[in-house]
Amino acid sequence: MSSIQERIDQYWEEVKNWTPSSAEEVEIYRLKFLVSKGILKNLFEEFKNVSVEEKRALGKVLNEFKQATEGRFNEFKDQFSEEQSKAKPSQDLTLPGPGFEFGARHPLSLVRKEIVEIFKKLGFVVAEGPEIEDDWHNFSALNFPEEHPARDMQDTFFIRKQAGNDIALRTHTSSVQVRMMENGKPPFRAIMPGRVYRNEAISARAHCFFHQVEGLYIDEGVSFADLKQTLFHFVQEMYGEGTKVRFRPSYFPFTEPSAEMDISCTICKGAGCNMCKYTGWVEILGCGMVDPNVLENSGIDAAKYTGFAFGMGIERITNLKYEIKDLRLFSENDIRFLKQFESETI
Ligand code: PHE
Repeated sequence: MSSIQERIDQYWEEVKNWTPSSAEEVEIYRLKFLVSKGILKNLFEEFKNVSVEEKRALGKVLNEFKQATEGRFNEFKDQFSEEQSKAKPSQDLTLPGPGFEFGARHPLSLVRKEIVEIFKKLGFVVAEGPEIEDDWHNFSALNFPEEHPARDMQDTFFIRKQAGNDIALRTHTSSVQVRMMENGKPPFRAIMPGRVYRNEAISARAHCFFHQVEGLYIDEGVSFADLKQTLFHFVQEMYGEGTKVRFRPSYFPFTEPSAEMDISCTICKGAGCNMCKYTGWVEILGCGMVDPNVLENSGIDAAKYTGFAFGMGIERITNLKYEIKDLRLFSENDIRFLKQFESETI
């Protein structure tokens, strides 16, 4: 037996018992047996020098050893590359990242924007005013007589109670109309979006604050026909062609005549449903011709100018558009609610 044969036997034992437990140990195996200065190569180098007689038998053994050594290596490789691929998903750096969470517009903001856009196209500008108001702008200038029960129409949060000089959270954005008339000259064509406050118990149908868009149009010769046509146009734009409107006589201290406007129910199209209490109609706003007293209170010549005004709750308009029946959802900031309007982001 040549010394080569003995060493092959020894190495063969080692190869058979080699059980790597990591890719690093496979690499150690490769460096020991398979690289160009490794055991296998050395054995073949030595093999060149053995006698011709020995070569035949030894050549066969050496080749078998070579195949076994390489075979083991391939097994190890498979085993560890399989393990790696199993671990892959958590390590795949080519996967897209988790992405960014974008906020979405609040449904009330979306609807307010839509309302504003419709009136802008008709030449209305946007006017704003303070949320903390004095008695004059919220009540007196708007023809609410002192101590008159009409003031109870809108339960008020007073900040300061002082005869004739109360300070309160505004109960409507009509106060902005007064400020506008006082500070400018007709013609006026403006809408007033904003938050308003009323002292009401919070429930699904009432809240202590809500949002309005009021409108004012004052010029020479403005008539009730202009009021009807403007609001009819608004409704067609907001809820689609063919939506019907009707006006019912009503009362507001600051308009005469006054009306409330209903539209054919947006949910059942007039057939009758829960939303319209099976009447086919839903109320969406109050309106009327600006009372001459209001014009005079704000320094406008009522003999020369006439005008109309209207006011709607954005919550109500949104409710009819998205069927959001509980008002509290608008201010709870529940992300599951707010997310539903994401596709509407602008
Ligand atoms: N200011 C009224 C309200 O808040 C709405 C309204 C505005 C009605 C203008 C008529 C004209 O209820």
